[in-house]
Amino acid sequence: MFRRLEAAGTGAAPGRTVRISVDGGAIECREGDSVAAALLAAGMPACRDTAVSGTPRGPFCMMGVCYDCLVGIDGRANQQACMTRVREGMAVVRQTGAREVSA
Ligand code: FES
Repeated sequence: MFRRLEAAGTGAAPGRTVRISVDGGAIECREGDSVAAALLAAGMPACRDTAVSGTPRGPFCMMGVCYDCLVGIDGRANQQACMTRVREGMAVVRQTGAREVSA
């Protein structure tokens, strides 16, 4: 469904490879990718599911407006994947089920 520009034959040069973990598994992405773009490129369209119905949700606007891309990043919940660039060693957790609310 999604292809990188260089894979689409546009002549775009691939960026440096960056490794992150998603739900404990390693994926390779490109320097400059947003976390949302890295998840989509890795074939993971769902970032979270809804707490009530369990419906999967994934990046929609890719510009920080819809909040459908919330993930946990390095231990911090509810981070916008589309607004966060990948960093080497970053730990991403897709959010599933009802969330805990801390006081
Ligand atoms: S995809 Fe809409 S806020 Fe991230």
